[in-house]
Amino acid sequence: MPKLQIHQFPCLSDNFGVLIRDGDAGVVASIDAPDAKAVAAALASQGWRLTHILTTHHHGDHTGGNLTLKNETRCTIIGPRGEAAKVPGIDKQVGEGDTFKFGGHEVRVLDTPGHTAGHITYWLPSANVAFVGDTLFAIGCGRVIEGNAEMMWQSLQKLMALPKETSVYCGHEYTQANARFALTIEPENEALQRRAKEVDQMRAAGKATLPTTIGLELATNPFLRPHSAAIQKRLGMAGKPEWQIFGEIRERKNRS
Ligand SMILES: [Fe+2]
Repeated sequence: MPKLQIHQFPCLSDNFGVLIRDGDAGVVASIDAPDAKAVAAALASQGWRLTHILTTHHHGDHTGGNLTLKNETRCTIIGPRGEAAKVPGIDKQVGEGDTFKFGGHEVRVLDTPGHTAGHITYWLPSANVAFVGDTLFAIGCGRVIEGNAEMMWQSLQKLMALPKETSVYCGHEYTQANARFALTIEPENEALQRRAKEVDQMRAAGKATLPTTIGLELATNPFLRPHSAAIQKRLGMAGKPEWQIFGEIRERKNRS
């Protein structure tokens, strides 16, 4: 299997930038482009030359660097078909079921709408990695801005079906606040209790809490656990459809 190098770095106030490289093929992609200067500095730190930007969704803190980076590097910008008009500099539009090659790796595109109407996820099965933008966060999920709870729940279920060992890279470092909220929804979850402590230690040491994995999220993320009897009981929603329980958790987070 071709090797995939991954370099994650913090940028803007709480965003992550991520660069991926297949050295044999000489390709380097920025997953989203929150800030052109930060992406350029990260490229320089690795000695890498940008060839692609893979956009997950149109928000400015994910696309603000697109045009500057494209002007500087002539990179190809790939982004969501469902909101292509809002993605600056887009060259190639992709959506559910599309695949394309990044060096020796196949990239599979999943539609994961809800945070925005056209949000997509990039999954590289050969490298066991997924770039989920603002759909799923560590112990949390994105705000449902352009969709509804049922749509977001369907998107999250697609991610839940990925192999448990899949490394998940998300758009923001929100994990500590997410853990505090999650403990109000499922305080008896021991895996969550342990993880919340680990997250506190990592943040105190100035470390990033990402990437996460699908398996870890399935065990600790309340947004992926509406089937939990303890959660259903706490919310007084025993036996209700999972998307409605998900929606209630999302509403409570919005108010927290
Ligand atoms: Fe966003």
